[in-house]
Amino acid sequence: MTKPSPPPSLSPATSGIFPLAADEKDPHASSSFPLDPSPSVSAATSAPFSDPVRFAMHDKAEDEALFLPRSAHLDRSRDTLTARPPVAILGAGWFGRALCQRLHQAGYTVHVGRRRPTAAGEGVAGGSFPLPVLPTTYFDAIESARVIFLTIPHRAHPAFVVDYAAALAGKILVDVSNPDEDLPRRSPSPGGGPRRGGSVPWRQPAYSIAEQLAQALPQTQVVKAFNTLSAYQLEHDIGGPSPQVLVCTDYAEAQREIMNIVRTLGYTPVDAGTLRMARDTESINFRFFPGWWGAVTFTVFLFLIFFLYDLVALHLLPGANNSSHQFSDLPYRTIGKVMASTALVLLASTNLAGVTANLWQLAHRTAQRPFPAWLANWLAARKALGLLAFMLVVFHVITSAMLTNGPAFALAGAQVANAQGSLLLATLGVILYGILCVTSIPGVGSALSWTEWRFIQSTCGWWALALVTAHSFILRLPQWQDHSYYHRNMPPLSILTFIPAALTLFLKVVLLLPPVAEYLEMIQNGR
Ligand SMILES: NC(=O)c1ccc[n+]([C@@H]2O[C@H](COP(=O)([O-])OP(=O)(O)OC[C@H]3O[C@@H](n4cnc5c(N)ncnc54)[C@H](OP(=O)(O)O)[C@@H]3O)[C@@H](O)[C@H]2O)c1
Ligand code: HEM
Repeated sequence: MTKPSPPPSLSPATSGIFPLAADEKDPHASSSFPLDPSPSVSAATSAPFSDPVRFAMHDKAEDEALFLPRSAHLDRSRDTLTARPPVAILGAGWFGRALCQRLHQAGYTVHVGRRRPTAAGEGVAGGSFPLPVLPTTYFDAIESARVIFLTIPHRAHPAFVVDYAAALAGKILVDVSNPDEDLPRRSPSPGGGPRRGGSVPWRQPAYSIAEQLAQALPQTQVVKAFNTLSAYQLEHDIGGPSPQVLVCTDYAEAQREIMNIVRTLGYTPVDAGTLRMARDTESINFRFFPGWWGAVTFTVFLFLIFFLYDLVALHLLPGANNSSHQFSDLPYRTIGKVMASTALVLLASTNLAGVTANLWQLAHRTAQRPFPAWLANWLAARKALGLLAFMLVVFHVITSAMLTNGPAFALAGAQVANAQGSLLLATLGVILYGILCVTSIPGVGSALSWTEWRFIQSTCGWWALALVTAHSFILRLPQWQDHSYYHRNMPPLSILTFIPAALTLFLKVVLLLPPVAEYLEMIQNGR
């Protein structure tokens, strides 16, 4: 079912607190390729508690042989869910073997081509990772199928195309290879890729491996797919969550055919565009937490600044060490407090990003104008900032739990009530932040309606910030009023971290004032 799209007045860029990072799938975008149930399968969905596919395949023979391997339950001659044409795999390394097993289990007739098909210890029964079929030569494998998976290292491609270009004419060749390193991609030629014909431009960093194959094999429909899956996933992922397989090609028919194979293997095919997009898909495996480095750097920076501040104010200044803060507190209590302070500012910054975006729209009297790069990056970093803050909060909660019976809580009367009230608010705030974190997981977020998701990410996010800001305020107000805590005029750190949180909440209240909120809504609706 397609999720309801956001109402026009709600700007997805500004509404969530820990929204999905820009490079992730929008949980509310409907899947481009939902599994189309065949008529027999969809009829079975009316039976409560039934697995539709299993229902469709259920027969008496299956009842009698419950402990046969899964593939043995399926009578291939009657398997009408999807036609399974013969396929060929060239190269029987780790990936080729794992793919062969998977295709074989899914009911395909697989022909495996090897450089030396009769190598000792190989074949159906031999080797540490035996093939389920007898290998043959490249030529025989190519001849026996229209869809051919090329599972050899890309360094072997130049020699391969020289020998097999003619045999591959009219076939679909699926390139699964990955480069050895992520080459910086130059801006491509105006034509969008290497021109067909002419000499093979191997090792041109501007082009993907798949584009170079396509140029060398002009009679062959080259498809880039499966390169983001590992051999291990192919071997072990059966029955688990369905990873996406990105499929890029310039040929619509080849794309349909490969996406169909992807689906029958239990994966989710994604139309990743033309073969030119292989430049991106080939670099995916080199990604290392993109979008997180800015947030991590900011977090470390804040932590170090706050730590140095507390170190000086509480421990290094003459007369700073006193009964409430001793140097022995440094490794645990001070670190815990600094983490809490960093977390509060990070959490405020996740909310402040959306508020700043709204203020920017108000200032420019339009929601159509793109945000400047710094604001767009800040908005995109909210999820990382929020999750990093939550990690620090976990540390803070543990240290606080360890120390609440210590000297900091040797309080009396009203102070005890204040402290306990503060902890209650903090606990409620942490629970709300936990819910925010969980719903920022794409799989969980996608199970929510837009209204539910927005309620959690926006409304709960604001309440969470209000609760934890109140926690810090109530707990620390007595200190702020006591001048013995201002060593050499340095205010307690808790005041410095309270200011951005309180300012963010104040700006939000301003934005909620009816005239401002109405004007903002008018702008966002394009009126
Ligand atoms: N392993 C993974 O998890 C993974 C994931 C995604 C993509 N891939 C891609 O899949 C391809 C194969 O990876 P792999 O891990 O299976 O590598 P591998 O274990 O080293 O196997 C490569 C196979 O390619 C064949 N081959 C043909 N010409 C070759 C040559 N000149 N030098 C070496 N081998 C040659 C050999 O098979 P025969 O002896 O049978 O001829 C060899 O066993 C690579 O392009 C890789 O980027 C691998
Ligand atoms: C998102 C959640 C939370 C945030 C952002 C947060 C933030 C803060 C801040 C800024 C302070 C003042 C630090 C200072 O004096 O410099 C503080 C202190 C404290 N918080 Fe939290 N807090 C959170 C959750 C909790 C929870 C769940 C508990 C325990 C149930 C807790 C217990 C305490 C305690 C005991 C102190 C005093 C620590 C001390 O004096 O050493 N906090 N917190």
